[in-house]
Amino acid sequence: MRKLILAAAVALFAPASFAPTAFAADCTSDVPKGDLTLEQAAGLYDCIKGKLRESYGSKDAPYAKEYQSWKAASTGPAAPGPHGNRFLMTFVNETGFDEYVKYSEERGAMPVGSVIAKESFNLSKKNVVKRGPLFFMEKLAEGEAPDHMDWKYSAVQPNGKVMKVKQGFCSGCHNAYEDQDALGYPDEDVRLASQ
Ligand code: HEC
Repeated sequence: MRKLILAAAVALFAPASFAPTAFAADCTSDVPKGDLTLEQAAGLYDCIKGKLRESYGSKDAPYAKEYQSWKAASTGPAAPGPHGNRFLMTFVNETGFDEYVKYSEERGAMPVGSVIAKESFNLSKKNVVKRGPLFFMEKLAEGEAPDHMDWKYSAVQPNGKVMKVKQGFCSGCHNAYEDQDALGYPDEDVRLASQ
């Protein structure tokens, strides 16, 4: 009985990182970054996810906690590419979700108030998973940011602090996707199938 009580107390008060479902202390991979399959990348994401979200949300940056209840707009992390050659995982708020997951190449503007979040992580040369920044795009009312196709760009550092973002740096690349309202969309192999 005493043992049971002790176990319950430990379970209640142990920090999240000791929870039984969590990741190993160091999320390492046997496979180098370039050779990871989608399943292996998803496994690494599962390992880092808790830690990633805890730190993104630790300083109350706008949307950094809220996005964690939004639906994922891909089946798993997209392979490294834009955004510093990191793995990317996309989430969209309720206002924008249905429109976003059409992944339309000829879309009208996304609904005003749509917010898209993108978590990122990387694998170091020693094959250890590293946290990357959290990126956001928020759709403003028509005419509010004409140079940026009415999107507001922002980002949060892995430690939870708001990152300084030059709108023109982000839109300089995103505006190239002008037929799809500046959206790049996740890689095709991780898009939701039913759309
Ligand atoms: C070099 C080009 C480039 C730059 C610079 C860039 N992005 Fe992206 N971004 C992309 C591409 C391509 C995608 C889609 C890739 C994916 O999701 O796998 C994307 C996706 C996104 C998404 C998910 C919505 C979408 O487009 O489908 C967000 C949010 C985002 N970027 C935010 C930002 C922010 C904030 C910045 C500036 C700090 C930024 N991006 C800078 C190319 C870029």
